[in-house]
Amino acid sequence: MKKLASMLVAGAMLSAVAAGCAQSGGSNAGGGEGGLPTIGVAIYKFDDTFMTGVRNAISNAAEGVAKVDIVDSQNSQPTQNDKVDLFITKKVNALAINPVDRTAAGVIIDKAKAANTPVVFLNREPLADDMQKWDKVYYVGAKAEESGTISGELIVDYWKANPAADKNGDGVLQYAMLKGEPGHQDAELRTQYSVKAIEDAGIKVEKLAEDTAMWDRVKGQEKMAAFLAAHGDKIEAVLANNDDMALGAIEALKAAGYFKGDKYMPVVGVDATAPALKALEDGTMLGTVLNDAVNQGQATLKIAAALANGETPSKENTGYDIVDGKYVWIPYVKITKDNIADAKLN
Ligand code: GAL
Ligand code: CA
Repeated sequence: MKKLASMLVAGAMLSAVAAGCAQSGGSNAGGGEGGLPTIGVAIYKFDDTFMTGVRNAISNAAEGVAKVDIVDSQNSQPTQNDKVDLFITKKVNALAINPVDRTAAGVIIDKAKAANTPVVFLNREPLADDMQKWDKVYYVGAKAEESGTISGELIVDYWKANPAADKNGDGVLQYAMLKGEPGHQDAELRTQYSVKAIEDAGIKVEKLAEDTAMWDRVKGQEKMAAFLAAHGDKIEAVLANNDDMALGAIEALKAAGYFKGDKYMPVVGVDATAPALKALEDGTMLGTVLNDAVNQGQATLKIAAALANGETPSKENTGYDIVDGKYVWIPYVKITKDNIADAKLN
């Protein structure tokens, strides 16, 4: 009798364990620590000004919604792949990945799909074919073309308002370009579309110099110093794919005597980071483009949380429009000295 009772108890325990497994392993949905779903977040590198803003926005949006574990991929794709494996082993309910190399997204999708762990990519857009590999793959970002067009327009506005901007009076805009990381959609398309916007406004252009400064302020300063050594006062405008590189260029220009008396250079960036807004106030940076870290971080968290809870992300459960079933596009905004407040709201 006693034996039978203990067999029954053991049997009941076994089926309870089995039911538990089926629940968490089957759909990978919900119910981490304290009832909140868990989301594993991997950032390409922590030492990036704009991505630090996005990272903080993800943490803030997670309060009371999900338990997020945010890790630094240290600008190494193999390191990021290891972090993804670890998240999957820990059975997180969803992943949010800012790829180091956007062409590596396919491998991450394969891993995530095999474990039935939904994945939201951000800031570095996977190739379209990779995005089609699974229906639980999403992307949150901004249209790189748009930021390029806006930064070109900032230069057009300046050129049209200031005839003296054509320093050598040849009717052609001689410019220097500081590019972000080669292959990154924001570097390639901002470069292309900023120049296109200037040409579309009927202004002839001549590229005097172009080089990558890898989104980095110190590299931006070094490259700009080299441009000045080679071309000096022939440069009539500086376009940078982000604010950190623009701020580095401004340092090099200051060292060459610019922004004193009437020696001026129009410099534009992208992101609208706090130090860039300060440079707009000081009159050293001509303009920038708000890359909305708060909404990009918040949308990423909302989409990942919906997926982690076993829901299909929609406008209703995330607050963001989902385009083509997988994309959330956060708009860019033109920022000059006149509307700095629009960037500071974020
Ligand atoms: C861009 C941003 C850059 C850099 C890069 C990282 O959108 O403008 O400053 O953060 O993302 O992928
Ligand atoms: Ca000229």
